[in-house]
Amino acid sequence: MTQSPGQGNALDNLLTESRTFPPSDEFAAQANAQPALYEEAKADREAFWAKQAERLHWETKWDQVLDWSGAPFAKWFVGGKLNVAYNCVDRHVESGHGDQVAIHWEGEPGDSRAITYAELQREVSKAANALTSLGIGAEDRVAIYMPMVPEAIFAMLACARVGALHNVVFGGFSAEALRTRIQDSACRLVITTDGQYRRGTPAPLKPAVDEAVADAPSVEKVIVVKRTDTEVAWTDKDVWWHELVDSQSDQHTPEAFDSEHPLFILYTSGTTGKPKGILHTSGGYLTQASYTHQNVFDLKPDTDVYWCTADIGWVTGHSYIVYGPLSNRVTQVVYEGTPNTPHEGRHWEIVQKYGVSIYYTAPTLIRTFMKWGADIPAKYDLSSLRVLGSVGEPINPEAWIWYRENVGGGKTPIVDTWWQTETGAIMISPLPGVISTKPGSAQRPLPGIGAKVVNDEGVEVPAGGGGYLVLDEPWPSMLRGIWGDEERYRDTYWSRFKDQGFYFAGDGAKYDADGDIWLLGRVDDVMNVSGHRISTTEVESALVSHPTVAEAAVVGASDDTTGQGIVAFVILRGGAGADAGGADAIKALRDHVAKEIGPIAKPRQIMVVPELPKTRSGKIMRRLLRDVAENRAVGDVTTLADSSVMDLISAGLQSGK
Ligand code: WTA
Repeated sequence: MTQSPGQGNALDNLLTESRTFPPSDEFAAQANAQPALYEEAKADREAFWAKQAERLHWETKWDQVLDWSGAPFAKWFVGGKLNVAYNCVDRHVESGHGDQVAIHWEGEPGDSRAITYAELQREVSKAANALTSLGIGAEDRVAIYMPMVPEAIFAMLACARVGALHNVVFGGFSAEALRTRIQDSACRLVITTDGQYRRGTPAPLKPAVDEAVADAPSVEKVIVVKRTDTEVAWTDKDVWWHELVDSQSDQHTPEAFDSEHPLFILYTSGTTGKPKGILHTSGGYLTQASYTHQNVFDLKPDTDVYWCTADIGWVTGHSYIVYGPLSNRVTQVVYEGTPNTPHEGRHWEIVQKYGVSIYYTAPTLIRTFMKWGADIPAKYDLSSLRVLGSVGEPINPEAWIWYRENVGGGKTPIVDTWWQTETGAIMISPLPGVISTKPGSAQRPLPGIGAKVVNDEGVEVPAGGGGYLVLDEPWPSMLRGIWGDEERYRDTYWSRFKDQGFYFAGDGAKYDADGDIWLLGRVDDVMNVSGHRISTTEVESALVSHPTVAEAAVVGASDDTTGQGIVAFVILRGGAGADAGGADAIKALRDHVAKEIGPIAKPRQIMVVPELPKTRSGKIMRRLLRDVAENRAVGDVTTLADSSVMDLISAGLQSGK
């Protein structure tokens, strides 16, 4: 059924949402993806993926598309050899597009730089030569801890070029988070900046590296890009980027690596406190990043201007700023700063300035834009936009409609793309021009991808039914394991539906009456705050590392803007002192979490409680705490070891008000 948008209170009711938006005839006619793609993939999946791999340049062609004999460890395009950076840079120069702008970089303070493919080739070559001069080569690990400056992208591509694995750590993470990520993968090199702009002010970044490296003996060198001109302490491991890289030759011959050569490690939160180093390899990853980017965003390299607002610290930045787009010869915007610096129309000003035609962002930002008001985008010319994307968490229908109306001029298709750090690339999404889009639903697996909603027994649920999202076929950009922990890889993803051989995504999902998939959020102890994965255990262990805290339990409570907000319940230590529960003490606890993990993990709220609700086996019943955090009547307490605990908690909170 098709209805006009923007009416009624039922906007947010997932169960009754039934509006669909068919593509216009004009869009459908020019779309990269055509309906036949589904048929083609269904007829012969491996032949389909082999055809997709042909979009890349292979130095040696593969002799086997998929080797799944070592499941759950896949090998794709076995025997093939390629250089990932060559595919993202050099071949576009060789095909006569050296003068095309690859990156329109926009700095937060308003400085900007246009980087052509020819220039990108020179910069990446110099950086690759610099890595070689430091003895960094195939299989070495390099940590990249940087804001969104062009050198961050040069550094990633330089690693790929020499076969080193990059381990990008989000610049908002703490020294402690950086240290554990450097140590776990034994990085030999760190690349960073002196500082980074944060809402208009330069903030130092290198001190966090100094702190992390002091305790990470594997690190031999630290390359520092000068960005904010902040004064920095200097150690004998440090070397300036402009001194080391700028003097290198801008000629570099890329070496072809095996299709399964490791490309990068990216850490993500799991259900325990220790983050998982997700490992991705070359040929299959690049094939799927490239295929999905071209089809899901309908990219036309000669005319489009693409902008993905993610940070390279997350997988979206890896696959949809660096590898997918550049392999497709994109012209893209890369913006360094925050969306309200210096004003709340900054994104729209950038869209207008560069004529952005494809814009990919996260629901939390769309909801923030809604709060700021529709009059802000209305002040700018956004008529260049023709495709909008969403990623990171479920997008509520109200935000979806607002996005289409106020950013997309009521006409652009919106692609709601479901995927994970582990999947490497988009898995579930409508194809614009082919599928009638539906607010709030990621709809169906892309051609070549197998995804299902199943019940506890692993049996697919019927239309209208809900359960767990699983991936029932291996895919080219799938993770190849967790760095250094084969057991955890098998346990986390492959043990839940072992008999069926399904990959367990950790997301709840349902089918609607049309068989379209709706994602319902995580089913494990992983929270999703502004599209960032943070585990409850990580925040709990940060809290209990504070001297006043005896015990902590953390839940993700629904939040209008950030999707989920972190709510912590803490029991204070006996000797913590009378004002340990006071406002200053609570603030100190929140700051402590920010210091341990990073500001994104700061609890929205911390409640001091006398007890925590536990089962007889000692497991904290987060469900009950979530009821409290979301101001609901507390649910069934019969499995609690002591059922009066919830009364105690509620009474304490009442009297504390
Ligand atoms: C959630 C981000 C609903 C989901 C690319 C997944 C989504 C986790 C969507 C992965 C979407 C991502 N609709 N939920 N379109 N996209 N998610 O690893 O819970 O940072 O498991 O990768 O984000 O987060 P990650």
